[in-house]
Amino acid sequence: MKKVIGINGSPRMNWNSAKMLDSALKGASEAGYETKRIDLYKLNYTGCRSCFACKRLDSPGFGRCAVADDLKPVLDEILESDGLIISSPVYFGSDPGMVRSFCERLWFPSHTYSTDGTVAYDRHLRVALIYTMNVPRQEFYEEFIESEKEKFSSMVGETSVLCALDTLQFDDYSRYSSSAFDPVRKQESRDTRFPQDLANAYRLGRELLS
Ligand SMILES: Cc1cc2nc3c(=O)[nH]c(=O)nc-3n(C[C@H](O)[C@H](O)[C@H](O)COP(=O)(O)O)c2cc1C
Repeated sequence: MKKVIGINGSPRMNWNSAKMLDSALKGASEAGYETKRIDLYKLNYTGCRSCFACKRLDSPGFGRCAVADDLKPVLDEILESDGLIISSPVYFGSDPGMVRSFCERLWFPSHTYSTDGTVAYDRHLRVALIYTMNVPRQEFYEEFIESEKEKFSSMVGETSVLCALDTLQFDDYSRYSSSAFDPVRKQESRDTRFPQDLANAYRLGRELLS
């Protein structure tokens, strides 16, 4: 049975990014694929350690990350799977640090430093990136999103992107310093826009491997 791995890149286990991921994994599951969710913030790992074991020409581990921590079995499982869905909040216009560290460990073994641009992975994986964010328009982060898409496409496999915009960040805006946001409009977005985002995530998961 084909397998889809879902990565939750938020420290929150049941908020926007996690809900988007669960919806996408539901779609994949209902399309007949085995699914598994992994929460990065429950794992103990670092970014790339620059050990270059993945690039040693005489090494049986060529093209694979050798760092033995909680991420190692996750990376191995991803490369044995068929689909990868990463759902993450945007932090300061980029990935949260944990997601960036995960990306370094996934990308670097594939990147061979060769003049012809050969990558070590066979790029069989279908990848979907889901980003959730406060801003109401994707154009704010188009450069970042395109750059991530390009890196995943060239090193890991064909990649698509879905964004959930204008997300609700807290249950009760009156309890936090947040005058930059209109809580009524935020709640409206949660009630009307987010259900559509979840439906789009479901479709993305259902169609990922088709
Ligand atoms: C540390 C931090 C930095 C953030 N930076 C941004 C940002 O640069 N742009 C943005 O649109 N939202 C930003 N946000 C908001 C989150 O991306 C947004 O609320 C997201 O949907 C949260 O995902 P979660 O509910 O899965 O945790 C930031 C949130 C935090 C906690």
